[in-house]
Amino acid sequence: MIGEDERVPELLDPADPAFARDPYPYYARLRESGPAARVPLANGTHAWLVTGYEQARAVLADPRLSNVPPAAAGRPKPDSPAQRARGCLARHMLNSDAPDHGRLRRLTTAAFTPRRVDALRPRIERLTDALVSEVAGRLAREGVVDLVDAFAFPLPVLVIGEVLGVPEADRADLREWTYRVGSPADALARGAVDEAWAGLHAYFSTLIEHKRRAPGDDLFSALVHDAREGGLDDGELLAMAFLLLFAGYETTMNLLASASLLLLTHPAEAAAARAGDEARWNAVIEETLRHASPLEGTTWRRTTERVDLGGGTVIPAEDSVLVVLAAANRDPHHFPAPDAFRPARYLTGAGRPAPHLAFGHGPHFCLGSRLARLEAVVALPRLFDALPGLTLAADPAELPYRPGLLVRGPRRLPVR
Ligand code: HEM
Repeated sequence: MIGEDERVPELLDPADPAFARDPYPYYARLRESGPAARVPLANGTHAWLVTGYEQARAVLADPRLSNVPPAAAGRPKPDSPAQRARGCLARHMLNSDAPDHGRLRRLTTAAFTPRRVDALRPRIERLTDALVSEVAGRLAREGVVDLVDAFAFPLPVLVIGEVLGVPEADRADLREWTYRVGSPADALARGAVDEAWAGLHAYFSTLIEHKRRAPGDDLFSALVHDAREGGLDDGELLAMAFLLLFAGYETTMNLLASASLLLLTHPAEAAAARAGDEARWNAVIEETLRHASPLEGTTWRRTTERVDLGGGTVIPAEDSVLVVLAAANRDPHHFPAPDAFRPARYLTGAGRPAPHLAFGHGPHFCLGSRLARLEAVVALPRLFDALPGLTLAADPAELPYRPGLLVRGPRRLPVR
């Protein structure tokens, strides 16, 4: 049994910049030792990491693993606006199990209809075109531009602004607050981050009031309208606004940044995509989701009882479990030559590859997958068509990556 034998995997330090940049060799070694392993973490705790494809799917569909974080008993009561905002975010559907989860999810699914999502296309096109011309202007003036800061970050935030029906005049605030709360812990002064949390909290509270009085044609208005019948209280609605923002922007930002990086480092693939139709771009996007999964791991799960994963792997009750999507998506049993970036595997007629797990699996499967794919298939061709001479202005092996086990993508992407 892996949990009881003497094979102790190497210590895992998610803050290590070298690990953040390239965690794949570590995950491959872990997977070779078994599809799930109890790993010692640098902070002195341990967790079970699931790295095999089959076991990842099994764990994500298993009701014996709970998404509800351990009780907050004994913690100090939130007393600042920033702590209240953080506390409120914790009440969202990703942190819930059945039956609460079903109640929260049903309403959101009803608001996120394919028709409503697809209707965002012209607005995403306009937002993209404006950002691409800003990038072009800055390239002409400044020579080098950070594509994360100028493109991959603002686009998803502005699109979430559309989803939430945030008026144009408030979008700059939304962008600034989001930038601050999403910055790595070492990047900004604590006061600036707290102020941004409080700003978002106050803003979303007012937005809900406003949508109730004067609903628009945005998705969030539909959610606010249906909330009363669906039994959602204001705290849950507020948590939903936070969840849509955070689930929707950081992930899509990493998808856009990683896809751009992969295309810049694989010029033949970029040329093939530019010469092809939307199916070619779709293949680039699916392969990026697999090869550079924007969510490295899902949210943490906790076993509510002893779980036997088969093959001698048994996870005891009350242990923390992380499904490493980035590792499952490179499982060689399901993806031949898993470390190679090969969009062609997702072209029709190429034989059916296993579905990647970048959007998760089971009851918490991503609600925004259609929107994320739409953003990418609008944004990437427009960027690469408008700026065909774009090249990387840094050594790809030296690019800094976001620390931690949850999200994965370059922090900066300098281009010229
Ligand atoms: C490339 C972009 C994206 C990726 C890779 C991604 C990935 C994921 C994954 C893996 C999960 C499941 C997490 C878990 O089981 O712990 C998830 C859940 C979720 N995602 Fe996404 N996501 C993306 C974009 C979006 C967007 C644009 C939105 C909405 C605006 C969104 C909304 C959600 C929501 C609401 C959930 C929670 C679903 C639930 O708990 O039932 N995501 N996403």
